[in-house]
Amino acid sequence: MHNAFAQPQTILLLGGTSDIGLAIVRALVSPTCHDIVLACRNPSAADEAVASLRADGRNVTAVRFDASQPATHAALITDVVSRVGDIDLVIMAFGVLGDQGNFDQDPVAAAEAVTVNYVGGVSSGLAVAAQFRKQGHGRLVVLSSVAGERTRKSNFVYGSSKAGIDAFAQGLGDSLVGTGATVLIVRPGFVHSAMTAGLAAVPFSTTPEAVAEATVRGLHAAKRTVWAPGILRYVFMILRHLPGAVFRRLPLG
Ligand SMILES: NC(=O)c1ccc[n+]([C@@H]2O[C@H](COP(=O)([O-])OP(=O)(O)OC[C@H]3O[C@@H](n4cnc5c(N)ncnc54)[C@H](OP(=O)(O)O)[C@@H]3O)[C@@H](O)[C@H]2O)c1
Repeated sequence: MHNAFAQPQTILLLGGTSDIGLAIVRALVSPTCHDIVLACRNPSAADEAVASLRADGRNVTAVRFDASQPATHAALITDVVSRVGDIDLVIMAFGVLGDQGNFDQDPVAAAEAVTVNYVGGVSSGLAVAAQFRKQGHGRLVVLSSVAGERTRKSNFVYGSSKAGIDAFAQGLGDSLVGTGATVLIVRPGFVHSAMTAGLAAVPFSTTPEAVAEATVRGLHAAKRTVWAPGILRYVFMILRHLPGAVFRRLPLG
């Protein structure tokens, strides 16, 4: 259960090596947090994160998780519960950006990316929600993206997968009202992380730590959606309604 200060005592990070996901975990961890599980494609890749999060007698473990294997997700949640008991907070932070030029040439690679970003989010999200309903509490943070607000020609495969997971998370949050469980959707812009390494930054670029701060504020305020940085909410309010001919000409990368 969250303690009196709304601090989670057990945390599951899906995408256990994600820069943004780990920044959120670090921002939320408190002395009363006794278990953290980092769920990764390659658990040994999380060795450094596991070591850095171990303090105050806390158990930190890395377990195997592949977002592209939906049939394994319910069993993963059962396994995590058997290790830590009720899960107070789940952060869904896995994802692949890919390259639109490559996707144009390789539709199978595009389908594989969408499978990770959207299909894997649906199966793991529903498995988490079933556990939260059983517990009668729990908070799910879903890393969406402004890329899903209005898809751009330069990354519309990725953008469409984020639009899908965002819509899924909105409906899931609505379906959980009254159960004690909640969903927080986080919509970052360009974040300097492993995912964007080597790419030219765009206006309003931010850091994993700033996204984590916005997420923590959103959790404490019981918000359903946060943007990072917050100004992107207003920027996209405008971009969403621009005529296509104008939108296509914008230098949005
Ligand atoms: N960076 C940005 O500009 C930005 C902006 C908006 C939204 N987001 C979203 O924020 C989330 C976190 O991104 P990030 O910036 O922290 O990037 P990151 O550091 O590259 O993290 C992405 C994570 O996804 C994991 N992953 C990829 N494929 C997987 C699979 N099949 N199964 C399990 N895990 C898989 C990666 O694991 P491996 O270590 O195994 O590769 C990694 O832990 C993503 O959902 C991303 O779409 C990012």
